[in-house]
Amino acid sequence: MNAVVIEVNRRSLRKDVPARMHLGDFVREEGRQTGTHLGCEHGVCGACTVLVEGRPVRSCITFTSACDRQSVTTVEGYDGDPVMALLRPAFSRHHALQCGFCTPGMLATSRDIVLRLPDADEARVRLELAGNLCRCTGYMGIVNAILDVLEQCRGEGVPAVSALRAALPRPDGGPAPQRKPFRTFTATDSGTLAAAAEAPREEAAAPVSGTRGGTNIQGSFTVPYPPGTVWAFMTDLPAVAGCLPGAELSEHAEDRVKGRIAIKFGPMSASFAGAARLERDDARRSAVLKGAGQDSISKSRANGDVSYRMVALDDGGTRVEVDLLYSLQGPLAQFSRSGLVKDFVARMIQDFGRNVALRLDPERAADAPLPSAHINAFGLAMSVIWSRIKRLFGRDG
Ligand code: FES
Ligand code: FES
Repeated sequence: MNAVVIEVNRRSLRKDVPARMHLGDFVREEGRQTGTHLGCEHGVCGACTVLVEGRPVRSCITFTSACDRQSVTTVEGYDGDPVMALLRPAFSRHHALQCGFCTPGMLATSRDIVLRLPDADEARVRLELAGNLCRCTGYMGIVNAILDVLEQCRGEGVPAVSALRAALPRPDGGPAPQRKPFRTFTATDSGTLAAAAEAPREEAAAPVSGTRGGTNIQGSFTVPYPPGTVWAFMTDLPAVAGCLPGAELSEHAEDRVKGRIAIKFGPMSASFAGAARLERDDARRSAVLKGAGQDSISKSRANGDVSYRMVALDDGGTRVEVDLLYSLQGPLAQFSRSGLVKDFVARMIQDFGRNVALRLDPERAADAPLPSAHINAFGLAMSVIWSRIKRLFGRDG
């Protein structure tokens, strides 16, 4: 994690962020400024364009850490900006937006054109807009809106705009205002190191996860049974699958399984068929379940490791630390990084832990149905969303 202090729309945010977090995710998830849209996340569509120190940048290919101690302006932060005061009504007048997906990025780029190129003609405006894609308008309205604003600002037509133009760096090499350079940073492993630091000394040497890369979600659950008992259960793959909501095994041979897991979360519905192999370390009571699968509906592919280890508690119980490291390819990849999904997985880990505790309960019949068999995915999604809303307003989740 890297500690950053970034001013987003004149509000200072001090956060610890993963080294690979891009600025688009930062302003949306940490700054709650969701007007910045992410389309391609490859720097191609321009929808995510924001201003960093007044200059337009693609937030999807700008690392958050590189913006430490910089100011960022998103579409929510243009109040009082004289160029936006002209562009917004011009976009309306010229029907320059339909669905609005491209509009936050279009406005940022348009502002840059108005300031930097006061004499731009239609051909130049179109050239400058080439990095912003719009799938609705055909561009004519956007081009006309920019030309309209350029016309209004001709000469000293709008003194506040002239003042902003005068503050820009001059192409002839004349004195330019002092700008803060991007800062470099050192990337460090996120999460895994922190988990290792908290672990008991003799277990810290064992890596929680066997692979690197992808999205990392950590969680834990506790059960009131000794580590040996829990470990025996957690290495019995059919028993583990039986506690995982939506999972079904079709084949099982020693430490290898094949099967299917169905996931439903809000609009997202997937059924991954695949195979997994358990690598276990009995001495340390830790294991890694390595798996890969494909969703039959969207054809998205997933692969990842579920690492878990037993930690003995003073009261005789066991904490099971779970470290999920996964990557998604295909249409479902757009869901892979949101905080909502992370909360959802954390909730699933809790439900899984509750089921393990029920299965280990000697007072309970071994084949008694588990509550997770009837889990209501919509209810689970709503409870995750509700707990996030409460957290946002400062109440306990
Ligand atoms: S989302 Fe950044 S350029 Fe497309
Ligand atoms: S208005 Fe819909 S993408 Fe541009």
